[in-house]
Amino acid sequence: MDQEGSSKINAAKGALEYVKDGMCVGLGSGSTAKEFIRLLSKKVRSDRLDISCVTSSFDSRMLAIKEGLFVTETDAIERIDLTVDGADTVTKTALLKGGGGALTREKIIAYNSKKFIVIVDETKICRGTLQGEVNIEVLPFAAPLVMKELIKYQPSIRMARAKLGPVISDNGCFILDCQMKLENPKNMENWLKSIPGVIENGIFTKFDKIIIGNEKGYRTF
Ligand code: 5RP
Repeated sequence: MDQEGSSKINAAKGALEYVKDGMCVGLGSGSTAKEFIRLLSKKVRSDRLDISCVTSSFDSRMLAIKEGLFVTETDAIERIDLTVDGADTVTKTALLKGGGGALTREKIIAYNSKKFIVIVDETKICRGTLQGEVNIEVLPFAAPLVMKELIKYQPSIRMARAKLGPVISDNGCFILDCQMKLENPKNMENWLKSIPGVIENGIFTKFDKIIIGNEKGYRTF
């Protein structure tokens, strides 16, 4: 196991402490969220817990089902008690997400949860002003117009690697990747949302805790 791998597992272990019997758990997407899904499955079996899950991507859904977790849908639950997800970049007040293109469902699940815990390794911490790639999900029809609006942020349509043409999200949309320095992440999150054709953006400003994993264990940020 390399250092990054064990750090991700340790971050996931930190979040596992918050899982209680009877909860509905929101499952994030990405390699760190996958470690949490695997650990959650083990815990559910060993402690005989009654846990239901809602997922933020087909990828997480497939893994959760393979791991034997009870996966349900948003119309079949009363509430989401806890969501655990990774991030691409974190500061104490805002995150950038969407490297895996699952940002819309991730935000829907996370923002509708009683508690949202972010799990990352040390490489994801950004000191100072939050900056980096901001991922934006857009309706394909609107993509050229949204790109014009965002021209100063160097938008590019994310291209697929194992298919011709653009990445098509789980929602049938395109993903735009932009470069931004965010003096006020909340304002930018809201402004991006207001552009016609934008489905969602990867700036997250609502979360409860960030757990940082390292080789030896984990700590709260
Ligand atoms: C997917 C995401 C992921 O949470 C983010 O990309 C982090 O992934 P990883 O844990 O693999 O570094 O936002 O849309």
